[in-house]
Amino acid sequence: MNSVVRDLALACVTVATLAGCTTNKGRCCKMSECGKSKASVTVSPFGKTKTGLEVKQFHLVGAGGVAMDVIDYGARVVRLWTPDRDGKLADITLGFNQVSGYEDIDLYFGSTIGRFGNRIRDGKFTLDGVTYTIPCNNDPGGIPCTLHGGTSGFNDRVWDSRTLTNGDDVGVEFTMTSPDGDQGYPGKLDVKVTYWLTAKNVWRLEYEAKTDKATPVNLTNHVYFNFHGEGNGTILDHELTLFADYMTPVNAGLIPTGDLAPVKGTPFDFTSPWKIGDRVNTKDNEQIKFGGGYDHNWVLRNQSGKLAAAAALYEKTSGRYMEVWTEEPGIQFYCGNFLTDSVPSKSGGHLTFRGGLALETQHYPDSPNKSSFPSVILRPGQLYKTATEYRFSTR
Ligand code: GLA
Repeated sequence: MNSVVRDLALACVTVATLAGCTTNKGRCCKMSECGKSKASVTVSPFGKTKTGLEVKQFHLVGAGGVAMDVIDYGARVVRLWTPDRDGKLADITLGFNQVSGYEDIDLYFGSTIGRFGNRIRDGKFTLDGVTYTIPCNNDPGGIPCTLHGGTSGFNDRVWDSRTLTNGDDVGVEFTMTSPDGDQGYPGKLDVKVTYWLTAKNVWRLEYEAKTDKATPVNLTNHVYFNFHGEGNGTILDHELTLFADYMTPVNAGLIPTGDLAPVKGTPFDFTSPWKIGDRVNTKDNEQIKFGGGYDHNWVLRNQSGKLAAAAALYEKTSGRYMEVWTEEPGIQFYCGNFLTDSVPSKSGGHLTFRGGLALETQHYPDSPNKSSFPSVILRPGQLYKTATEYRFSTR
């Protein structure tokens, strides 16, 4: 067998094994030819937190060939394997093999973010005449703010969990109660995040929350992608499309000014596919300078609250292609400007500057302090409900 044929056969066995295909016998195939592929979800221990809490891992195998590992610490994705155009699988998300990685290195890899995704100015907001103070845990440009919920966000909790199956779709439901006053936010918030892996290679995230006092809520997931495989270079050659004609410009502290700026004629115009590296270092652009590259919120064309395409990402050599669909009005595109080679990769090497990118579906940063932005306030009796899908394929 020549090496290409052998690699393809091995890749096929791996796909088949992950997908529970027993009929393949190493014959090179696509999942569609694989006979009895079957979806499954299995549970195993992942380790313990520093405080001694057991962390569970769920291995989801989709009938379409995509597989993922998720854990209840941070309700997060740890690994996600997708086939390239030859059917060869790679783990395309950044993460760690041990709980301590997530506890020690605060990069939010793969995690559920709450109570409020992204930044809140000065760690303060006023709601119904009362000013609330929440912890400042971030200071870009030397300007303090609250990032991703506070010093202990939802990424830092062990969630309750149960496995789900629905025909060919497999999933995990994570639930958690954030007590009244958690990180300074008002109201007891009951939160549910459901991960589904469908037979069509869609990772669907469904979020729900209820409160007993008015409170800001903005939940998202901070998965980082690298379509070359994690720990395998940068994402600068990935081609990105964003279905957005405006972005929310920021000040030096990465807090939105409140304006909506047209992207046309700027490095922020991704209305047609652009390689991320082509304009990420544009010298004379203040927004690029503040972000150290791309680290901004785009205002999606779809403001209907119904599921619609928000972004598309393509990497030519692997053929991996992904669409992001969401009910949210915004998306934070962050190109890994804070990643360095001091961060270990799961495969034993190390990451690199811009070695992953995040496409976080969300309401706009600092919305609690911006009355012109779509509201993020959840009131008693209301149901917070939103969904996002990452749809994987090849081209
Ligand atoms: C978000 C922010 C970035 C950065 C990352 C986490 O994407 O916008 O500035 O803080 O989270 O590293």
